[in-house]
Amino acid sequence: MRFYVENTDQEVEIKPDCSLLEHLIQNDIEISHSCGGMGSCGTCRVLIINGSESLPPRNAEEQQRATDLQFQYHERLACQICPIQNLTIKIP
Ligand code: FES
Repeated sequence: MRFYVENTDQEVEIKPDCSLLEHLIQNDIEISHSCGGMGSCGTCRVLIINGSESLPPRNAEEQQRATDLQFQYHERLACQICPIQNLTIKIP
């Protein structure tokens, strides 16, 4: 399984139990993450272009940020989701 980052035209192999943010950092793909992945800053926001249905629902932390920042359905926090199937994302 892999995910594709539209901005950088990169494909990243999905590792188990690894957040989307961790995947991006490990592959030197630039993304803000002011709170270090705690789910409190909202700066790791990504747009899910394809594959939203394979992701789990927002947890309480992500839902709070999504409400505060008025996220659309396809906007997720990279630090709060672990990809498990093919995805296409865009970093705004
Ligand atoms: S890094 Fe702060 S919410 Fe994801």
